[in-house]
Amino acid sequence: MARVKVIDKEFEISIPEDRILKAIDDVAQKINKELDGTNPLFVCVLNGAFMFAADLMKRITIPCEISFVKVASYTGTSSTGHLKQLIGFNEEVQGRTIVLIEDIVDTGNTMVMLFDDIKKHNPADVRIATLLYKPEAYNKDIKLDYIGIEIPNEFIIGYGLDYNGQGRNLKDIYTLCK
Ligand code: IMP
Ligand code: MG
Repeated sequence: MARVKVIDKEFEISIPEDRILKAIDDVAQKINKELDGTNPLFVCVLNGAFMFAADLMKRITIPCEISFVKVASYTGTSSTGHLKQLIGFNEEVQGRTIVLIEDIVDTGNTMVMLFDDIKKHNPADVRIATLLYKPEAYNKDIKLDYIGIEIPNEFIIGYGLDYNGQGRNLKDIYTLCK
C-alpha cells in the first residue's frame, strides 16, 4: 500500500519494512558488541515501542532481560513536565545497565523525564535506543546511543506509531501528506 487513510488524514509510505529491519539489524549488532557481559535490562516504553522492541530483541544474542513501562506526561499549570507511570516495572535497577527502547525521539521531553526517573534508582549505566529520531525537533543534551533512522520533522505513523490511536499495526512507516 503506497497510501493509507487513517481517520480523516492521508498518509504516504516513507520507510518500507525492509529498511526498518535493516536499521534494527545495525542497532542490534552495535548493542551485542558494546553491552556483551553486562546482562542489560531493556525497558520498552509502551505503547509506541512495542513493535521495535519485538524486532530488536529477536536480534539480541547476549544474555539480557526485558521489561515494560507505560508512561504519560502531564504539564500542569507550571511549565514543569511530570511523568506518571501507568505501568511500572519490578526489576532491580541499582547497579544495572539499562537500555531504554523508544519508538521515536521528537523534542526529547518524554525520554529525558524517563531517563531522570530511572537515574534516581542508581543504575550503573542508562542507554537509549530509539528507532526514529527527528534531529530538527530535538532540543535536549542527553546522548542518544543507538539511533535507527533519522527523519525530517514530519508527522508519521505505522510500525507502532499512531495517529489518535490508529495506525500502530501498519508494518511500514507512513508520512502525513502535505
Ligand atoms: P517527545 O517527548 O516530544 O520526544 O515525543 C515523544 C512521543 O511523542 C513519542 O513517544 C510518540 O508517542 C510521540 N510522537 C512524536 N512524534 C510522532 C510522530 O511523528 N508520530 C506519532 N507519534 C509521535
Ligand atoms: Mg509514545
